[in-house]
Amino acid sequence: MSPFLLTRTLPEDATDAALRADVLQGLTGMPKTLPPKWFYDAHGSDLFEKITELPEYYPTRAEREILVARSGEIAAATGARTLVELGSGSSEKTRYLLDALTGLRTYVPVDVSESALTQAGHALIAERPGLDVHALIADFTAGLTLPRTPGPRLVAFLGGTIGNLLPAERSAFLKSVRSLLAPGDALLLGTDLVKDAAALVAAYDDAAGVTAEFNKNVLAVVNRELGADFDPDAFAHVALWDAENEWIEMRLRARRAQTVKIPALDLAVDFAAGEELRTEVSAKFRKDGVRRELGQVGLELTHWWTDEEGRFALSLSLAR
Ligand code: SAH
Ligand code: AVI
Repeated sequence: MSPFLLTRTLPEDATDAALRADVLQGLTGMPKTLPPKWFYDAHGSDLFEKITELPEYYPTRAEREILVARSGEIAAATGARTLVELGSGSSEKTRYLLDALTGLRTYVPVDVSESALTQAGHALIAERPGLDVHALIADFTAGLTLPRTPGPRLVAFLGGTIGNLLPAERSAFLKSVRSLLAPGDALLLGTDLVKDAAALVAAYDDAAGVTAEFNKNVLAVVNRELGADFDPDAFAHVALWDAENEWIEMRLRARRAQTVKIPALDLAVDFAAGEELRTEVSAKFRKDGVRRELGQVGLELTHWWTDEEGRFALSLSLAR
C-alpha cells in the first residue's frame, strides 16, 4: 500500500444528488431544516478549526486533556493495529492515539471534507513515514465499507460529533458501526456532557462571532452548489439549549420576510420575518444514556473517562 491513499466511496454526482435531496426536503418541510454535514466545505472546515480555539468552546480542550491522560490505557486495552476515525477533520487530537498505539499499521480517516482529509493526510505521512494512511471521502451515516486492514481495529468517533445526529439517525449509525467491528475490536466514543445551560449556549454563540459565520456557511454552500441567492446578512445566528431533549440547537432566523430562489431545484422558498431554519443539533449526554445506547447495539461500555472538570467524556466499548 502507498503511504497515503485517498478513496472517494461515492462519485461526486452522488454528493450533489444528496445535497439536492436534503435541501429540497429540508426547505420545503415545516419547520425548515438543513443537515449539519453540509457545513464542511473547505471554508467550513477551516471555521470549525477556529471554533476549536475559541475560549468559549471547551469540548476540544476537554477531549484533548482526556486523550493526553488516557491514550496509553486505550492502547493497552485495544492493541489496535488499525485505527479508523469517523469525522476525522484535522486529525489533530488523533496524534495522541497514534503516538500511544505502538503496534499501529494503518490509519483510516473518514470524512465528507476532502480538504480536511488531504491536509491532515499529507501532514501525517510527512510526520510518520511508517504509517499507512488510507483516507476515505465518505458519509459515515451511509453504510461504510472499510478497506481490508490488519486487526484488531479501533474505531474512534471523537469531538462529540455523535451529538450532531438526531436520535433515530444515532441508533441507525451505532448499529452500522457495530457491524464494522469483529470480536476484539473496539469503539472509542467522545461525548459532550450535560452541564450548565449558560456554559453550553456560550460555546455555540461565541463573542467573536466565529460560530455565527460557521452557521451561515451552509447558506454559502447552497448558493455555490445549487445557484441559490441566500443573503447571509438577512439571517441571524441563534443558539439555544433545549432542556427537554438535552441538546443545543443552532438555527438561522430570517431578519425580514424574504423569498430565496434555488434554480438547481427550480424552487422558491418563502421565509416569514422571524422564521427559523434549524441547521444543527448538538446533543449532550449522561453516562447512563451512553451505556444504554451502546448496549442496545451489543457493545459493552468498559471504560469511561472525563476531563478534570467533568465536561466531556471518552468511552471505550469492546466488541465480543
Ligand atoms: N473529529 C474532529 C473534527 C470534528 S468536526 C474533532 O474532534 O475536532 C466534525 C467532522 O465530521 C468534520 O470534519 C466534518 O466534515 C465531518 N462530518 C460531519 N458529518 C459527516 C458525515 N455525515 N460523514 C462523514 N463526515 C462527516
Ligand atoms: C462537530 N461537532 C461536534 C460540533 C459541535 O459542537 O456540535 C460542531 C459545532 N457546531 C457549532 N460549533 C461546533
